[in-house]
Amino acid sequence: MSDSLEAIQQAALAEIAGAQDSRALEQLRVQYLGRKGRVTEQLKQLGAMEPEARKAFGDRVNKVKALVGAAIENRADTLAQAELAARLAGETIDVTLPGRGEGVGGLHPLTRSLQRIERLFNELGFETMQGPEIEDDFHNFGALNIPELHPARAMQDTFYVDDGARVLRTHTSPVQIRTMRAVVESGAEPPIRIICPGRVYRCDSDRTHSPMFHQVEGLYVAENVHFTDLKYDLQTFLSRFFETEVKALFRPSYFPFVEPGADVHMWWQDPTRGTGRWLELLGCGMVHPKVFEAVGIDPEKYTGYAFGMGVERLTMLRYGVDDLRLFFNNDLRFLRQFA
Ligand code: FA5
Repeated sequence: MSDSLEAIQQAALAEIAGAQDSRALEQLRVQYLGRKGRVTEQLKQLGAMEPEARKAFGDRVNKVKALVGAAIENRADTLAQAELAARLAGETIDVTLPGRGEGVGGLHPLTRSLQRIERLFNELGFETMQGPEIEDDFHNFGALNIPELHPARAMQDTFYVDDGARVLRTHTSPVQIRTMRAVVESGAEPPIRIICPGRVYRCDSDRTHSPMFHQVEGLYVAENVHFTDLKYDLQTFLSRFFETEVKALFRPSYFPFVEPGADVHMWWQDPTRGTGRWLELLGCGMVHPKVFEAVGIDPEKYTGYAFGMGVERLTMLRYGVDDLRLFFNNDLRFLRQFA
């Protein structure tokens, strides 16, 4: 082997052994084995040699080429393994570390109230009914003894739809009408004992009023239903709902579809202002004979009571919330307190 060929081989092997990454190794491959590489250049001497010497020298150059090529392959394997090991070490996951914890969802406070109200009334023998949120004039007003141009229509700020032909129901009372008509049309007779939970809509907004809110309607029609039944059932419900004997106040009130009528108030200790006041929870009364006539029930034979309660108001009182708009802001800091 000529001196320079041996020197090239030694230099190549030393540099390959010292290459620190695959890029440096690739540069060495070009430097020694590339078209203009130091080993390849040696072949240029072949032209000037005698045939005997040419063959011997050619063999030597090819051996060096193979040796350097093999050294590069080996080093490439070693570097690749080292690089993989380093990457894996950097990505190590410590499975023994404590987890970050998944948040547990909870029911919205209004959903909790609605479920609770429904369960308590079901226990008192009331069946749950549903009605549409877009109502016609007859069910929302007419059949409830609120004829057109009656001043009582102004008591509820109505959202009209379909150019005034229909309304977003302003209360759950239309379900009274739908239920009584269905009973009469099916040829059945009272007793009827139902509640209807659902959304209602009014153009109204402040700390105790929201444009969309929930009511639960109640209706009990049978022979010999008296105001005392209404008082007893509502008092029983309120005490069970608040899990204590509540201070409820029945105050005479006017609704065209009941006679006599009352509002029920409960003492509310305002948590932010430190003051208290009577907060209206519901309206109620004895079903007006005109309502019975509108649905075809004999008012001489049957009497009944009805009530409509505000679910947001009940929930405010139960949880000490001072602004019912909080229920609709979707602020997780507020909602998480009920999870
Ligand atoms: C009515 O809606 C009657 N339909 C209730 C009724 C039914 C009376 C059957 C007699 C017989 P009123 O408008 O007062 O009544 O509403 C009933 C309750 O809904 C109120 O006592 C109050 O608790 C709640 N409420 C009324 N307006 C709002 C509002 N904008 N936001 C939240 N709650 C409200």
